[in-house]
Amino acid sequence: MSPAMHNASFKHLGLPYRFGLFDVGEDELSAFISTARTEMQGLNVTIPHKVSVMPLLDGLSKEAQLIGAVNTIRFKDGKALGFNTDGVGCVRSLREQGVEVSGERVLVLGAGGAARAIGFQLALEGADVSIANRSQDKAEKLAEEIASKTKRGCRALTIEEKTLASEIQGVDVLVHATSVGMHPKTEDILIPSRILRRGLVVMDIVYNPVKTRLLLEAEKIGCRTVDGVGMLVHQGAASERIWLDVEAPVEVMREAVYARLGKS
Ligand code: ATR
Repeated sequence: MSPAMHNASFKHLGLPYRFGLFDVGEDELSAFISTARTEMQGLNVTIPHKVSVMPLLDGLSKEAQLIGAVNTIRFKDGKALGFNTDGVGCVRSLREQGVEVSGERVLVLGAGGAARAIGFQLALEGADVSIANRSQDKAEKLAEEIASKTKRGCRALTIEEKTLASEIQGVDVLVHATSVGMHPKTEDILIPSRILRRGLVVMDIVYNPVKTRLLLEAEKIGCRTVDGVGMLVHQGAASERIWLDVEAPVEVMREAVYARLGKS
């Protein structure tokens, strides 16, 4: 999706850049970054390089340091600087739907890389975060790390129905941050929708399909739903600001993603 949305944006802004894809092996990463320093404006990095790229950089943003992973690199004045825009993408996509997370109680489902970026950013923005994950030990580790590094409370929960049902009575926002429900396993859902409630904000980071089973069932119950395209587009817009100091055309990027998803 990234080439489609960034190239649509560069065209719209009349900028002479291209966003391309590079398949880089772990043993090639260091040489790739060296070359990129002189030939590129910036990079996105994805799995499995988000952590291993960090020692190759000259500086890290506060978010990248806290999250412990980089998804965006800017080359400037001979330096390579690392950022993480995943969490900000989530917060901005909620904001665009009128949901301000500061002071709100947010339940994050998942404790992988995406949940980590989201959990930290939510805490940084002043949300009261709890984390539930299939592997309880990972939820506990992440919650402890968020609490100690951001100095905000963060609780770990088991993924059991009874626990989540009672938690959901008191939370304002639920963010599903695992890959469950992603194409082609579109019938999958991590939690039973009977524990959701009317008025709850339910965001899914899965964007293919745009309407996951979780979002479809949440809609029927009367929840406010936020799809994963928003997070994808807003993390991309935040990356463009870092690379090029531009205000990215979010709607142009969103249309490019929808068009691309329609074709896949
Ligand atoms: P990402 O970077 O996309 O977050 P990841 O780091 O591999 O990917 O994390 C995947 C997340 O999805 C984890 O929270 C994982 O739960 P576990 O930590 O218990 O493995 C969750 N996940 C993936 N498949 C799942 C499934 N079938 N049921 C429940 N959780 C699942």
